[in-house]
Amino acid sequence: MGISFYPEKHILSLETANSCYQMKIGPLGYLLHLYYGPRCSSGEFYDYLHLPQDRGFTPNPYDLAEGRGFSLDALPQEFSCSACGDSRLPSILLHTESGICGVDLRYRRHEIREGKYSLNGLPSAFDADGSTSTLSVTLADEATGIEIELLYAVFEATDIITRSVRIRNTGSQAVFLDKLSSACLDLPFGSWELLHFQGRHAMERLPERAPVLTGIQTLSSERGISSHQQNPFVILCEQGATEDAGFCYGAMLCYSGNHQEEIERSPNGSVRLLSGIGERYFCWKLDPGSMFDTPEVFLSFSAAGLTGLSHHFHRFLRRNLCRSRWNNRPRPVLLNSWEASYFDFDEETLLRLAREASELGVELFVLDDGWFGTRTDDRRALGDWVPNPERFPNGLGHLIDEVNRLGLQFGLWIEPEMVSEDSALYRTHPDWALQVPGRKPVLGRDQLVLDLSRQEVADWMYETFSSLLRENNIRYIKWDMNRVLADLYSAQLPADRQGEVAHRYVLNLYKIVDRITSEFPEVLFEGCSGGGGRFDAGMLAWFPQIWCSDNTDPIARLRIQEGTSFGYSLSSIAAHVSASPNHQTGRSTPIGTRAVTAMTGAFGYELNPALLSEEEKSAVRSQIARFRELSPLLQDGLYYRLPGDSPCRYTAWSLVSPDRGSALLSLILTQPEANPLPLHLRLKGLQPDAGYRVAWAEFSGCRNGQPGLTLPVLSGASLMQAGITLPPMYGDFPAVQILFVRQENQPLRRQEK
Ligand code: GLA
Repeated sequence: MGISFYPEKHILSLETANSCYQMKIGPLGYLLHLYYGPRCSSGEFYDYLHLPQDRGFTPNPYDLAEGRGFSLDALPQEFSCSACGDSRLPSILLHTESGICGVDLRYRRHEIREGKYSLNGLPSAFDADGSTSTLSVTLADEATGIEIELLYAVFEATDIITRSVRIRNTGSQAVFLDKLSSACLDLPFGSWELLHFQGRHAMERLPERAPVLTGIQTLSSERGISSHQQNPFVILCEQGATEDAGFCYGAMLCYSGNHQEEIERSPNGSVRLLSGIGERYFCWKLDPGSMFDTPEVFLSFSAAGLTGLSHHFHRFLRRNLCRSRWNNRPRPVLLNSWEASYFDFDEETLLRLAREASELGVELFVLDDGWFGTRTDDRRALGDWVPNPERFPNGLGHLIDEVNRLGLQFGLWIEPEMVSEDSALYRTHPDWALQVPGRKPVLGRDQLVLDLSRQEVADWMYETFSSLLRENNIRYIKWDMNRVLADLYSAQLPADRQGEVAHRYVLNLYKIVDRITSEFPEVLFEGCSGGGGRFDAGMLAWFPQIWCSDNTDPIARLRIQEGTSFGYSLSSIAAHVSASPNHQTGRSTPIGTRAVTAMTGAFGYELNPALLSEEEKSAVRSQIARFRELSPLLQDGLYYRLPGDSPCRYTAWSLVSPDRGSALLSLILTQPEANPLPLHLRLKGLQPDAGYRVAWAEFSGCRNGQPGLTLPVLSGASLMQAGITLPPMYGDFPAVQILFVRQENQPLRRQEK
């Protein structure tokens, strides 16, 4: 396993536990992709798959003896060139000062080394246990002096291959990069479907799946953030692939700004997938002697359907990406003030909230927006990060002390990257916001975006928030970002570098986030961008959890969380129980159902407990106890989507502990029916020959109370193949959670209410 070079065949082979990826240094030094798929047998070479053939009207390299049998246009590539014989999607577009466009890249050298390469200024996965190896292959173009280093790292155990590109200008004139993809994956044969995750604010990452037809499809974000609209994660799966069967390839870009995923099916039948920085507002000037790194793409292959692919990404993101100490710790149960009081609070109302929360068993109290400057609504004061003296006559420190005295830790909301026009900061430094000279800036939620490329802005930001954390006992930060980028112009940059603004914004953000999070390793940082507008691997490198969506309706959120789960683990999804009727949809749901949806790795409440009935309060107490009991499973469990019946009446999923000793089944009835058909489903991921018994079953929101569930001890095989039938559940959106434990294992301890 790992990386091998076979000199006699000119083949480089990358192997993970279950996959193999091969490339060949072909004629004239063209780097050809050979194969990505199941690891069949070591020492086999896949160059036999690509037969020389004279394909009419495809171009041929000038100096090749084999002539017409070889065309870049017809062969799979590792990094597609531009204007040099491959007319499919280029991985690179550039122009030089003298007007040369395109590159003709040939192999120069390669190197295999232990460990994981790192990238300049960008998040990237790390080697967690000394088993990762790196391959670097350098290609060069004589006419422009451009060198491209393709970087691959092989993570054997998690079945992930990372890929990034480093470009160097070794020539004597500046080169303008108009596009540089991080990964190029050519699938020469087969019929494929594209599964991707699109949406909008409060309805993020909804799966959309369709056959890949001839032509080009581009998915992208041009909003400066990875966006609510299009997540930088795509899957190509075999036509008809299911959760459990079929070849699937995933490509996840570790980046938080403009991105693009291009999928082209060429009339020759091959499919090309490119992933990288979005090209629309990108033009990077590469001076002679300088270099540029692209964000990293995580590639994975599963021969066993979509669930297998999700497991690869979940394990990898948990083990090899996030550097936070909180990554593998159970997260505290929090109560967030936003939907409880929005901007309407003072010290006294907050302390009432905190007191109620502590009586329910909450561990962390989070003060959301509105605590600083004159921020009494969302039109002002971003940038003035000084506690509002009217709300806190005794200072923020006093509130924190009082909250701590109630036995709660204290957390705070911030939105560092923004400035309101109506703020002292803007009045003092109007030039700190991104804006185009001579044009009024575009507003978003009445706010402007700070130009992070200015050193004084970065210094101010670091000073402001590090002193806030240094001077106060703050244990959690919600780092928000509530608008998209528009005025891509920085007064700091010369004219020929204005095409760099969007990417520089992200690089500077990473620098600041890295600086602040490293200085406060014990603080739990949660990412947010109007909910899930920046839910990506880039942010997950520092933030172990991200607020998944501003939509807290437990039924609408099922789709959002399920879509998110294709790439991202449950432990990274922050979810809260909010009030009913829900503030976004107006829908009423039982409190138990809200908790079942919100019971991800990062669980909490966002409501005013004083408005709950005694019965609901007691439900909350047992939910919190249940979350603590289930924390290890929610943190590390293998997640299974359990597709519903047809027409679909429910959403169900399960989590199975890595040793398969326990499994939590959750189901919410989304379409209750009269005279209902039996609810039957099959579990997944259990040990077939072990016996499992029900440790407990908790029904909530059922008009018929706690329906009886009596299941004998059943083998994992029976639970997975014969399945189980649940008793009928009546009511508005009833839910059930069932914990199965393996017989010989001690059951997880059930906490008392
Ligand atoms: C964004 C967040 C919310 C809340 C508000 C506060 O919309 O997603 O959770 O923090 O900002 O203004």
